[in-house]
Amino acid sequence: MATLHLGKTRVVALFRPEHVRYVLVEHPGNFSNQGAAPSDENGANEGLLTIDGERHRQQRRAVQPAFHKKVVEGYAAVIDEYTQEMFKSWRVADTIDLSRAMQELTLRIVSKCLFSIDLSRQLSALGNAFNAFLGSQASAAEDLLNIRIDNPITGYGKRRAAMRQLNMLIYTLIAQRRDSVDEHNDFFSMLMTGTSGDPERPKLTEKQIHDHILTFLAAGHETTANAVIWSVYLLSQYPALREKLQEEIRTVLAGRAPTAEDIGKMPYLDWVLNEALRLYPPAWMQLRFVAKDFELDGVHLPAGTLLMLSQWVIQRDPAIWEEPDEFRPERWDPVNGEHVPPGAYFPFGGGPRMCIGMPFAQLEAKMILASLYQRYTPQTDPNYQPGLKPLITLRPKNNLRVLLMPVNSNAEVQWKRIGGTALDGSERQGCLPALLSLFGLLL
Ligand code: HEM
Repeated sequence: MATLHLGKTRVVALFRPEHVRYVLVEHPGNFSNQGAAPSDENGANEGLLTIDGERHRQQRRAVQPAFHKKVVEGYAAVIDEYTQEMFKSWRVADTIDLSRAMQELTLRIVSKCLFSIDLSRQLSALGNAFNAFLGSQASAAEDLLNIRIDNPITGYGKRRAAMRQLNMLIYTLIAQRRDSVDEHNDFFSMLMTGTSGDPERPKLTEKQIHDHILTFLAAGHETTANAVIWSVYLLSQYPALREKLQEEIRTVLAGRAPTAEDIGKMPYLDWVLNEALRLYPPAWMQLRFVAKDFELDGVHLPAGTLLMLSQWVIQRDPAIWEEPDEFRPERWDPVNGEHVPPGAYFPFGGGPRMCIGMPFAQLEAKMILASLYQRYTPQTDPNYQPGLKPLITLRPKNNLRVLLMPVNSNAEVQWKRIGGTALDGSERQGCLPALLSLFGLLL
């Protein structure tokens, strides 16, 4: 354990798998998410990620049907359609900004699957608004230190501006759904008719519906995009493993587009994703407030302490993992692989707050990877250094750009550096015009 003081907040970092289990699985009721996420009266403080106790249990139960295995498998058609559409403009020998492409693709997929909205024309706009909303390092520090200066140059001010844009969009969508005959049988409909867990006001309020939508859009794309991006980066560093994956894809798909059933027949793809999520967990740390004083291994932790559990640290701990920094998908082989102690691997969290979108994210990431490696061998610039940008999710600091090589080519095509330097992740394009066009479209 280590104690840090951030402003007035006492933060205790826990590093042992049994402590992860204690907090997430064995005693979740002792801990609160409220206040552990960035607090903002305009933010998603009524969303599933931030509510606690009975309300959390009831609302989670109300939306759970949208994430059952069979329903999620039904999302496969949309995942495939949008992935194939993305490939239409890609050609062998193109260089692609995969960071940007994956963010757009995953945002588009989650919007369509859960809310039946096609965002194809507004993607860069929304992507950028989410980028600003999900924060910068400065705004995360501002949050912990409780600094609130609302002007266009502070992280806080930028986040609020992005938040106002997203709010406007989401309230417009809710109003449209209310005004129309709801013919969709989607997650959005579930929210519109769902219960709040409050006997006084059994229906979800406008603000609660808004917060759920925002939470699912935000939590449901950036994480999965990063899972794909880091997988591609790792495979580019280990060509023999990449070939093994392509062999599996070739054998199972025989040239067809993947279905959910095919994905279930690809164990190596499963191990690749597990291993990428171990080395580069998109959710790299989780926070919890201590609700009631308690003692852990002889250390007294008073109510109000903020606990930090880090996937990044524990999933690379040499006391747990053999050669922890090595990308080794085989360690997930259920017969000959490594024994992983409970609590040592938790890319999707654990216990009653475990990621509700996990089956969706896994299917989506695997389908995108299978389709990508079926068509291409993406290569990175040999000089590319991803760097780390640990915000709410863990992104590469420098966008991942790949050269699309043919799958079965022996041709030595040299990577040409585009403009001489790799692009920084912060250089995503301006979003206002596209957002305005979205409102134009909706109103
Ligand atoms: C690789 C992709 C993903 C990763 C690594 C990931 C990771 C996580 C983690 C670690 C948590 C637990 C947070 C906590 O305990 O405080 C979580 C919760 C959550 N995730 Fe995911 N997630 C992913 C994809 C998704 C997707 C695709 C969706 C929705 C479509 C989603 C929606 C949520 C929601 C709503 C919660 C809150 C659950 C609750 O508190 O009951 N996630 N996720």
